[in-house]
Amino acid sequence: MKKLAAGNWKMNGSMAALAEVDALIAAHPAPACEMLLCPPTPLIAAMAARAEGSALQVGGQDCHQNSSGAHTGDVSAAMLAEAGASHVILGHSERRADHGESSDLVRQKAEAALAAGLIAVVCLGETEAERDAGATLAVIGAQLDASIPAGSTAATVVIAYEPVWAIGTGRTPTLAQIAEVHGFLRARLAGLIGAEAAGLRLLYGGSVKPSNAAEIFALPEVDGALVGGASLKAADFGAIVAALSAA
Ligand code: PGA
Repeated sequence: MKKLAAGNWKMNGSMAALAEVDALIAAHPAPACEMLLCPPTPLIAAMAARAEGSALQVGGQDCHQNSSGAHTGDVSAAMLAEAGASHVILGHSERRADHGESSDLVRQKAEAALAAGLIAVVCLGETEAERDAGATLAVIGAQLDASIPAGSTAATVVIAYEPVWAIGTGRTPTLAQIAEVHGFLRARLAGLIGAEAAGLRLLYGGSVKPSNAAEIFALPEVDGALVGGASLKAADFGAIVAALSAA
């Protein structure tokens, strides 16, 4: 599997902001890594139209676990796919915190994503209190076990390790801390899905920016990044794409 530079626009962006997408595509017509942007749902179809024929893939930021029904305000995985999405972020810490999403629910959503032909980008991460208590690996392990759908493969699931305290704060773990969690995740995944674990992309996320991307991408078991703030500007995200392509 190629490495993956994924951007999460969160609740940012607009039709006008899609000019950044044109600039990104023009600057990176054929990167050595995969390149994905996940805008707010109303922008997916327009972004996918601009990305058609380019190296840029487009994803959603969440989907419902059911395929249809009386769920006001939610979108299904099939709706995202029809709008042009190839991926969907699931279990981001902001959704776990703001919407009370449990790992069990995240797994159901991932199952729905896979059933609709989407690649599930499943997010895991400890809070600062959990890290301070020495519980990081226990928390991450429990989230992984419960969030990963049966039948996950390297082609259908991506894992993003995102320490909650590093998201949007400008703080990042030490390189040793990132390497420790990624090594742990690789081994734990092998116990869950066997040989597929070797190729499944493990992304790091949390305050990734052009200035720290290369050193993070040089770590073993880091197969890319999930980028928030720095994905909003083509120049910043493009620099991260370039760093991953060179890793
Ligand atoms: P950040 O967000 O890069 O702005 O820290 C990362 C994320 O939440 O995916």
